Amino acid sequence: MNYIEKLTLLVQERFISEGADHDWYHIERVLKLAQYIQSNEGGDLEVVTCSALLHDISDHKLNGGKLNDNGRVAREILTKLNAPESIVERVVRIVDLVSYKGQGVADKTESLELSIVRDADRLDAIGAIGIARAFHFGGSRNRPFYDPEIAPKKHRDFAEYARDKSHTMNHFHEKLLLLFDRLETPTAKLIGRKRQSLMEDFVANFYQEWEVKV
Ligand code: ADP
Ligand code: NI
Repeated sequence: MNYIEKLTLLVQERFISEGADHDWYHIERVLKLAQYIQSNEGGDLEVVTCSALLHDISDHKLNGGKLNDNGRVAREILTKLNAPESIVERVVRIVDLVSYKGQGVADKTESLELSIVRDADRLDAIGAIGIARAFHFGGSRNRPFYDPEIAPKKHRDFAEYARDKSHTMNHFHEKLLLLFDRLETPTAKLIGRKRQSLMEDFVANFYQEWEVKV
């Protein structure tokens, strides 16, 4: 088995029993989307593959609240698997920068591979699967679907965004509806358009039904 095959098994084992918002199937979809985007846009397939597999390896929602810990864990794992050093450095950088840190926090763009993996992760957060993941996330924390008294917030930093415990509809305004405009690669924008319009329809219909506008 080469190191990427070993890494795939290790990540699968780590995520298989996580909740549906963040389980192995999320990682696998991000991997497939990232590899598809790479096949159109170019970039290093090995770096894209490892970064997609490791992009949530130490997420703050799963690791007891530590922010920006992905790179440290990714380095540990890849070094143990004897991955080439040049790959390790590039992957560590990507998995540290990949995640959404709040509406008021700009994305750092520094490599095509980072843009590809970030786009793939964001595509899986929008559309039909994105809606399902959001309500699974809210449900698993027993949050209400919606509360008209609590308006969405514009988070200025990652800590403030990570602390927020609002109802699930706010998450659409604070993150999910904003992701399409932040996609960077033309291939992801093409895939994202349909997902975005489905999600916009869903949100508009949700409020109509909430108000019982029949
Ligand atoms: P990703 O894996 O795409 O980086 P996150 O780690 O931010 O995304 O979140 C994992 C999943 O949980 C996503 O589908 C996201 O929309 C959902 N999620 C995160 N925070 C919330 C929230 N406050 N309310 C509802 N869903 C959320
Ligand atoms: Ni993810």
